[in-house]
Amino acid sequence: MLDNKKKMGDFFTRFDKLSERVEGMYALGRRPFGMTFDQMLSPTRARVGNTEVILAGTNNYLGLTFSDECREAAKAAIDAHGTATTGSRLANGTYAEHVALEDDLRHFFGTAAAIVFTTGYQANLAAISALVGRGDHLFIDADSHACIYDASRLCDAETIRFRHNSPEDLARRLARLPEDGARLVVIEGLYSMLGDVAPVAEFVEVAHAHGAMILVDEAHSIGCYGDHGRGLCQAEGVTDEVDFITGTFSKSFASIGGFCVSRHAGLEMTRLVSRPYLFTASGSPANVATARAALAVMAADDSRRTALWDRARQLHAGLTAAGYVPASPPGPIIAVERPDELTAVREWNALLNAGIYVNIAVPPATPQAKSLLRLSVSAAHGVDEINRIIAAFKGLSRAAA
Ligand SMILES: Cc1ncc(COP(=O)(O)O)c(C=O)c1O
Repeated sequence: MLDNKKKMGDFFTRFDKLSERVEGMYALGRRPFGMTFDQMLSPTRARVGNTEVILAGTNNYLGLTFSDECREAAKAAIDAHGTATTGSRLANGTYAEHVALEDDLRHFFGTAAAIVFTTGYQANLAAISALVGRGDHLFIDADSHACIYDASRLCDAETIRFRHNSPEDLARRLARLPEDGARLVVIEGLYSMLGDVAPVAEFVEVAHAHGAMILVDEAHSIGCYGDHGRGLCQAEGVTDEVDFITGTFSKSFASIGGFCVSRHAGLEMTRLVSRPYLFTASGSPANVATARAALAVMAADDSRRTALWDRARQLHAGLTAAGYVPASPPGPIIAVERPDELTAVREWNALLNAGIYVNIAVPPATPQAKSLLRLSVSAAHGVDEINRIIAAFKGLSRAAA
């Protein structure tokens, strides 16, 4: 009892100290954590304080956030259906638009089933925890996104990590296991930190050869890879073999929400057994309508994707020539490794002062504890904007010389 009291005392002392520091920052007019954009001006521009910056870290791959199609769909949905559903999918939160979006996704991917969730994070929690539980085995890539790790905690299955992007390591681990219980392998398509892609077809082969199902999280790859942005599974010709694909509406779809599609109609049982589906409110009418509009743009016209790849190649070549060699081949995510955290922080600040916003990613949020300046490319970037980003990086090396 005494020990507990002492622990509680320590906790409150630490919390009081933290509160004092935060209050001190407020008093200086500073915002304690994270970055604030005071005004979004376009998919690639924002105002920060009095400065206009070029955005090169927003995951707005197709640049649809300010498109007429998405804005009009969102406004019309608010007028027609109100601002929120105020309930979960299973209770009062399924509107005709949620079902229509599920139909659109089934047609787009050619799958038997589709479920729409409130976020991509929730889609992974819901799908994974519905598919495996106590007595089963879940295999996850070591570089998995936090929501896949969180799903492993929620589902109670024994979780086994395999080496990043290594079908061989997965095969060894699968082969060691007794045959009882279900087995689910989870990988991503395009990895969000280093911009590297998974050898999806090889993973599918290994998983199925060992009696496992496979789920591919295509949060970053849908919209960017495959015919009309159908993703890496489609690009590699394995959409019909992959068991589940999850994705998000918060990147290429210019909205908020997530989904899971599957060749197995049995995915539908998720709606009855999955806590993350059952116990949170559904996506707002505006978010759902925006995602539908973005999907319609993708299905009708592949030109934004072509522009995205042109700009990605331009940025990759420019950074390479400037001595900032990206960690992966050209693609929508371009990450530059820095020698240490301090250099990354200094350079991130210098880029911002030069009017360029990129993401900074440092341990423990990064694979192999790397310190990264992470850029994402948008179809809406102009050639001149990419040139200005490259010039700002050249400015960094001049300042360091
Ligand atoms: C690989 C991956 N999966 C899932 C998510 C979660 O998506 P959402 O923002 O819709 O919750 C993200 C978000 O960044 C992600 O990178």
